[in-house]
Amino acid sequence: MLEIKDLTVEVGEKTILRSLNLHIGAGEVHVLFGPNGSGKTTLLLTILGFPEFVVKSGRILFKGEDITELPTHERVRRGIGVLFQRPPAIRGVRLSDVVNICREQGGIPEDEATKLVELLKLSEFMRRDVNLGFSGGEVKRSELLQVVVQNPELVLLDEPDSGVDVENVELIGKVLNEFLERGKRPSERRRAALVITHSGFILNYVRTDRAHVMLDGTIACSGTPDEIFKHIMSEGYGACIEHCRD
Ligand SMILES: Nc1ncnc2c1ncn2[C@@H]1O[C@H](COP(=O)(O)OP(=O)(O)OP(=O)(O)O)[C@@H](O)[C@H]1O
Ligand SMILES: [Mg+2]
Repeated sequence: MLEIKDLTVEVGEKTILRSLNLHIGAGEVHVLFGPNGSGKTTLLLTILGFPEFVVKSGRILFKGEDITELPTHERVRRGIGVLFQRPPAIRGVRLSDVVNICREQGGIPEDEATKLVELLKLSEFMRRDVNLGFSGGEVKRSELLQVVVQNPELVLLDEPDSGVDVENVELIGKVLNEFLERGKRPSERRRAALVITHSGFILNYVRTDRAHVMLDGTIACSGTPDEIFKHIMSEGYGACIEHCRD
């Protein structure tokens, strides 16, 4: 589904990602850990093709196609969606309008989208401007709604659990599990995901297949999510890498 080869990325002439490699197969959910400023969001926005992230070397392949040079809207059209860590509020644009446009593009029937709106407790938010005055947890639910109705094959989730209370993390986890078809056999799942989390709360609800630790702009170690998270929590990010070397 996603293959990143030897990716080096600069932002404002500063190198942020360094020779990064990552492979996510169809039906897989990967989790990405890493300290603040290590480059996690940069990686997601580079996969989406935001122009300020300049690829100096390396390639990004999506379903076998080289998308490194494609504009963002072409990548989204091919099936990549994102839940932003800090999305902007869009004054004058109603959430219902964005959801309708995304739903039509994604081929999701109106009644299915309405069910999702109710499940995510967003009915009263639909006539409000996108994210304007929304609380932290409300923003995450609104972002999740927008990305799910786009019906992407690869979904990039930048801290879906940060600032979200326990009950709402459970709700977000439930929607994600359903969307990622975690109840089905791996060979029957059609989508893949990359989830960034600091707290790991979301991992209590969404089963993940593989975990990676980003340090200083590169994937410093990979392994099973439970093991990696345990090492980070008990000994920190650096120690996790020592275990990887063992
Ligand atoms: N436009 C920019 N100009 C200069 N530096 C930038 C720019 N965008 C990002 N950076 C820097 O790139 C580094 C990586 O940022 P990034 O947002 O990818 O980190 P992160 O791993 O997502 O951190 P967090 O866990 O805090 O969200 C940071 O040091 C950040 O200041
Ligand atoms: Mg970030």
